[in-house]
Amino acid sequence: MRPSHIFSLLLLLLAPAIQAAVLAIDYGAEFTKLSLIKPGVPFDVVLDKDSKRKISSVVGWKRDDRVFGAEAKMAATRFPDAHFPYVKPLLGSTSQHQLPLHPNPPSMTNDGVLIFPHSSAPSHISPSPSSSEEVWTPTALLAHQISYYRHLAESLIPDGTTPEPINQVIVTVPSWWDHYQRKAYKDALELQGLTCLAMIGEGTGVALNYAMTRTFPNFNLEIGEGEKEYNIIYDSGALSTTATILSFYQTSYFPTKKSKTSINTTHIEVLSVGYENVGGVLLDTEIQKILTEDFIKKSGQKDIISDKRALAKLSREANRVKHILSANQEANVAIESLFNDVDYRSKISRASLESAVESSIPLFSHPITSALASAGLTLNDINSVILFGGNTRVPLVQQSLKSALGGTDDKIAQNVNTDEAAVLGAAYYGAALSRTFKMKNLNVTERSFYDIKMGDEVIFEQGTKLGERKILTLPVPSAEDEITLEFTQSTHLISGQSTTITERNQAISKPILSVKISDIENSVKNFTNPLPVVQVTLRLDPRGYLSVANAVLTSNSTGSEETTKDAGGVAGALKGLFGSKKDKDSSDDSVPAEENPTEDEVVDTKEEKKQPKKQKIALKFKEKHTGIRPMTGEEKRTTQARLRSIATYESAKFAREEARNLLEGYLYRLSGLLSEDAENRALHDFAKKEERITLQSIVDKTMEWLGDHAETADEETLKGKRADIEKIELPIITRFKESLHRPKAIEAFQQAMFSSRSFLVEATKNNTEALENVSKQTPENPAIPPKYTEEELKDVETQMKENELWMDDLMKKQVLLEDDLTSDPVIWADDLDKKGKKLQMTVLRLINKKAPRRPKPVISSSSSSATATTSTRLANPTNHHGPSVTESTHSELPDLSEETLSSTTLANPTHKGPVLEDKTQETGDKMGTTYISKAIPTHKGPEPPKHQEL
Ligand SMILES: *[C@@H]1O[C@H](CO)[C@@H](O)[C@H](O)[C@H]1NC(C)=O
Ligand SMILES: *[C@@H]1O[C@H](CO)[C@@H](O)[C@H](O)[C@H]1NC(C)=O
Ligand SMILES: *[C@@H]1O[C@H](CO)[C@@H](O)[C@H](O)[C@H]1NC(C)=O
Ligand SMILES: *[C@@H]1O[C@H](CO)[C@@H](O)[C@H](O)[C@H]1NC(C)=O
Ligand SMILES: *[C@@H]1O[C@H](CO)[C@@H](O)[C@H](O)[C@H]1NC(C)=O
Repeated sequence: MRPSHIFSLLLLLLAPAIQAAVLAIDYGAEFTKLSLIKPGVPFDVVLDKDSKRKISSVVGWKRDDRVFGAEAKMAATRFPDAHFPYVKPLLGSTSQHQLPLHPNPPSMTNDGVLIFPHSSAPSHISPSPSSSEEVWTPTALLAHQISYYRHLAESLIPDGTTPEPINQVIVTVPSWWDHYQRKAYKDALELQGLTCLAMIGEGTGVALNYAMTRTFPNFNLEIGEGEKEYNIIYDSGALSTTATILSFYQTSYFPTKKSKTSINTTHIEVLSVGYENVGGVLLDTEIQKILTEDFIKKSGQKDIISDKRALAKLSREANRVKHILSANQEANVAIESLFNDVDYRSKISRASLESAVESSIPLFSHPITSALASAGLTLNDINSVILFGGNTRVPLVQQSLKSALGGTDDKIAQNVNTDEAAVLGAAYYGAALSRTFKMKNLNVTERSFYDIKMGDEVIFEQGTKLGERKILTLPVPSAEDEITLEFTQSTHLISGQSTTITERNQAISKPILSVKISDIENSVKNFTNPLPVVQVTLRLDPRGYLSVANAVLTSNSTGSEETTKDAGGVAGALKGLFGSKKDKDSSDDSVPAEENPTEDEVVDTKEEKKQPKKQKIALKFKEKHTGIRPMTGEEKRTTQARLRSIATYESAKFAREEARNLLEGYLYRLSGLLSEDAENRALHDFAKKEERITLQSIVDKTMEWLGDHAETADEETLKGKRADIEKIELPIITRFKESLHRPKAIEAFQQAMFSSRSFLVEATKNNTEALENVSKQTPENPAIPPKYTEEELKDVETQMKENELWMDDLMKKQVLLEDDLTSDPVIWADDLDKKGKKLQMTVLRLINKKAPRRPKPVISSSSSSATATTSTRLANPTNHHGPSVTESTHSELPDLSEETLSSTTLANPTHKGPVLEDKTQETGDKMGTTYISKAIPTHKGPEPPKHQEL
């Protein structure tokens, strides 16, 4: 199959997997960037709560409240005991960093897992930790942060859509991350119920971003002719520096012989990676060390080294000073009340910093030389060096880099967006996986940074494309019922190169996975073919860790040991989406089944077609992670429950705060209105004195109460307090609103009465005329029967009479009250509205009634038939009339369209637009609505004040 066929086929398969949003996360040791791929959301970086484009990678607590990003960083000096920065280097790791990065250093459990203390952890965390010394694993701390990232992304809602949860992510990780580290990240995502579509190298992310806007030379994969472009991504971050060498090229082919346009694919292929455990934090800690020693020398206060708050202040100042020294030769240091109320002031120069870290400077250039060596390339082959990461702006890093590039910076690519490139690249990758966006074809290939061995046998060599599989063929054990396979990871040292600690450490063989295949004996009994052997398919997951795809009992046919060359990169990642069914019954029981069936099965059936007789019996197997173990199912359940308990607390808190803010705002508004010099006089004019006093006193009391209970009162209590005051305010507000709307309502009511009267007069006249004509008609010359029945006209008359009586009576009383605004109204705008509207509806219906036609002249017969017609019409029961016509039938009347309505203008002399207002408007604001058009300039009262709610 041609490569692009595979690609498009896979995209089809993939389509259902990516429905809506995919969040790209570039999680850094110090800062994290996010980008959301979602139809309707502009493609950009996701901003945090403070509208920052980069988010501090930290979680902390301010007493009971979990905080993130800049807020968490700010809280470090006040709450150093619940401050957890730099989680990334501890994921899937046991190296307690030598750097003083963690105010609360983690301890190691008996089975080799790092775990952080959380002293005085909030009581809402459930299940509550049994000891404050062992609360959060690095994975759990990452999961906290991921919940925040997800929250930020979920609040990006395109107009007119409803919020929807995000459950798919694409993440970047250091490409040298090993089995443990990748597993730990995956666990953190799973704790939040997120599916990891792809885990790509940070350098790969930058490369994708770089490739999006460029074209590359053509290369013919089949005949190996053409050109490739080689670039180095040099990424110097907070804690590590990585150089990734990639080749970029384009392939172009015609899908069929007749095709006129070629299909072009951009290939991005990782060739090699070099890295060192050195980054910008080295400078932070060095500055902190210099400052601490200087402070002790000047003040004699040695105890500062055990004061967490003072150290947090020093660490913050060190970071500030570092940035100043990147641009200046010297920086001032100033910390108020650093320790025991002693202020600290000093100066530090770039030169003194550089000499303090001198021995580490070559480490910044080493990744480049090491990556070139393992790719077998020289600097001359390199097109350009693309910088990424904040630390590349530090002068000594730039110097070191320049020395690795032969003393010149000619090759350093200019004007490439450095800090956001990885997350944007990852987002592009997500878009490429989705069919919602039109993207260029991409083929990304990443490689294993490690040798994966079984005993001495190399299973996947360092540099193997991620996504590849390998089948191991093993003899059926003669005595036992099971086989156990142990796998390790290591790198090999490049001979002739001087190596660093990092490299030597990587070269040590470490256990990663143990696979136990069981119940073999029974399966053998069922096996009828000759030469039974056990075949285990191992997979180098596109996300970079080792797993078992399946284990079967089958016949030993020739060439049984083979490697299926699955496509790496995009294709591999796609494969990872579907995974293998059998992955599920592997290691951890609690993991939500993320992977679906299965493209493997498609492949399998094809294989079986080729060799139809080959019998295969699936074998049970169990994966166990050795070395640094990932979280167990039990740990995951506990952590997940804790995360949920925090989420519950936070949403209750949010609701509570909202209720409190509403109450607070309400109290301020009321006390403003009650104050003597209030501009808006509503509460003064319309409240009786006692009412005002009562209101004032309850407002004062509630304010005082709120002062004491703002932080503790629950949502219900807060809402209750507000309701109590509203009960007192309501009659006053009603008076005010009534007085505001009454003149308009009366005017409108009178208009309706006036129009109805005109109608009645005219209609009666017409009817009388018509009846007269009817009485004179002959069969040869029939007359038009009257349009209205007597009952219909009677109904209008009755309604008008009733209205008049009602109005006269109430108006007399209302007029007496007119000077006293504090008395409750007698006549309600709403009632006027209803009655007027009902009358108008009755009249409108009659006006719009179809006029009767002149009956056909009957030439020879008697006149009786014509009279009969008339009487039928009069009796016609389908002619609605009387009180049954209410406003509620309004919308059911077919003939009350806009046109017919405007034809009724004659009934309403002042009317300029359609008579009836939109229904929604009527219900929206009852008090302000009239049933006569708003165009009537009837309103004489004061302009409504702007405080509708009062
Ligand atoms: C991607 O490119 C590699 C060669 O670098 C090729 O072997 C593979 O088939 C391609 N995959 C797809 C899906 O095009
Ligand atoms: C593919 O690349 C060839 C050669 O670079 C170019 O001529 C052609 O226009 C490209 N096709 C598309 C569809 O971009
Ligand atoms: C399978 O057969 C080959 C050659 O026929 C033999 O060398 C190999 O040892 C056999 N493998 C097993 C596991 O029996
Ligand atoms: C062997 O075959 C029998 C009958 O088909 C079946 O019930 C049993 O589960 C099989 N055993 C194994 C280990 O596959
Ligand atoms: C009365 O008759 C005149 C002339 O036919 C007509 O224009 C008018 O609309 C009628 N009035 C009513 C209220 O039906």
